[in-house]
Order: sequence, then structure tokens, then C-alpha cells
Amino acid sequence: MQTVVSLSDLRRARQNLPGVFGLVPTMGALHAGHLSLVRRAKAENDHAGVSIFVNPTQFGPREDLSKYPRPLERDLQLLSDAGVDLVWTPTPDSVYPPGFQTWVEVENVTRPFEGAHRPGHFRGVATVVAKLFNAFTPDRAYFGQKDAQQVVVIKRMAADLNFPLEIVVCPTVREPDGLALSSRNAYLSSDERKAATVLYRALSAAKVAFEQGERGGGRLREIMTSTLAAEPLARPDYVSAADPETLAELDQIHGGVLLSMAVRIGATRLIDNFLL
Ligand code: PAJ
Repeated sequence: MQTVVSLSDLRRARQNLPGVFGLVPTMGALHAGHLSLVRRAKAENDHAGVSIFVNPTQFGPREDLSKYPRPLERDLQLLSDAGVDLVWTPTPDSVYPPGFQTWVEVENVTRPFEGAHRPGHFRGVATVVAKLFNAFTPDRAYFGQKDAQQVVVIKRMAADLNFPLEIVVCPTVREPDGLALSSRNAYLSSDERKAATVLYRALSAAKVAFEQGERGGGRLREIMTSTLAAEPLARPDYVSAADPETLAELDQIHGGVLLSMAVRIGATRLIDNFLL
């Protein structure tokens, strides 16, 4: 495995990897969710690359940029064990050189949910992912369904900017009790960790109702909201039953539905979703 820091070293290393290339963008602090993307990229392509970059522009002023975990040695060992060919760990100054003023703004699909609660978040995500696509020129790029709105935003951006690549979406990896793996789970106290299963329980309750024929978006939102309300440590930011492509909130569901939520458990903000 080659690990490079500068963009010129990345370009040189990438040129020496012929064939179909799969990229997994990450912010490090890797867990089994990230590694499922990495394994898939390795299996489906001639070579697999990973970026590790805690992207400052996607964090809000009151978010956890400075305390975001950065266990680089451990991450590199995990990626090497997984058979990754190329890792890029750029510095913030090289991704955002002095005078930087060019941004990628995706419009409608960034407005609800995470976009409404984290102003500027998706501008940071879309910009850095466009730069990663330019730097690696992958044939496929791998993203987790865990971040459902991020997937919609990046698919839109890649289509709108004519990136010649395929976006591959991988299922959410969960703990045995249903909690979606996330670097932020490490911030939870043991009581909060128990309470955090309420996201999965709320989504599951709505899924049962959907499978029994419930097609009212309002009713599905109520089922999720009332499940969350029964957990004293949980404070929801939003609860949604939306069109999986436009992300518009649905009253009546005719095809598929994206159930999604963001919930604060103590000081930690968790997100989860089911695509039905
Ligand atoms: P990060 O949070 O490190 O996640 C990297 C990738 O792993 C994302 O595609 C995310 O959806 C996926 N992932 C995280 N938890 C997962 C889980 N439990 N199961 C499956 N996949 C999971 O998402 C980002 O970084 C950044 O926004 C990034 C795209 C790298 C841009 O900076």
C-alpha cells in the first residue's frame, strides 16, 4: 500500500495503477462501516484507493472539528490489511490553498434535513468530494447509505458536473442492537449508548407499519416521533418520511420512501435512515 500526502505524489502513484479504479472517501477513524465500503471497492475494481481527510469546510462553527478522532496509524494498518493500493492523507492547506474561493453548491436536495440544521455542510461535502474525484479520477466511488442525503447530493453533483464515474451505495453496517456504526458513537456515555438504540427502534416501528400497508407519510412520522418521545435522553432535530430522490416530504407514499432522522443523545447528534 502506498500512502501519499501531496497532490503531485497522488497523481504520480495513481498513474501507475492501470485498470478500473475504485475510491472510498473517508474522514478516518475507520470502523466496520468504512471497511465494508473498502472491501467492496477492492472486490469490484482492479485497484482501490482511500482518502483520509477531516474536511474542515463541512463542519459548522459549533461542531466537533477539533475533537474529531484522528487515529491515523491504526487507520493505515486497517487499510493495508484490507489490501488497499493507495491512500491519500492531504493537509487542509493543500486542499484549501490560501485565497481559496471556488465552491460546489448543490441546490434543492441540500435544503432539507441535514442542510437545514447544518448550514454550509453540504457545500463543504460537495466541494471536497469534487476535488477528490478530480484528484483520483476514479471509475467508481463508494458511499454509505448511512448518510442518505449525502448520497443524493453527491449523485446530483456527479451528474451535473459530468464526472465520468459510477456512484456505488453500500448498506448501513450496524451494531447487533441496531445502532448504525459511526465515529461519533465513541462520544456516548454508557447510558447514552443504551438510549441511542431508539433511532433504530423508531425506524423499525415505522417499517413494520409500512409493511402492513400504511402509506400515510404523516402517520409514519408520528410513529417515529412517538417512539423517540418515550426515550428521555433523546431530542429529535427532525423526523422525515420523504421522496428518496427529491427529498420532498410525503403525505401519501406511492412508491418508495426514505425514513430519516437526526436525534441528539446528550451532546452527540446521531443520524439514521431506512430506505423502503
Ligand atoms: P465519513 O463519515 O468518514 O464516512 C465515509 C463513508 O463511510 C461515507 O460514505 C459514509 O456514508 C460511510 N459510512 C459511515 N458509517 C457507515 C456505516 N455504519 N455503514 C456503512 N457506511 C458507513 O461521509 C464522510 O466521511 C464525508 O462526508 C466525506 C464523504 C468523506 C467527505 O468529506
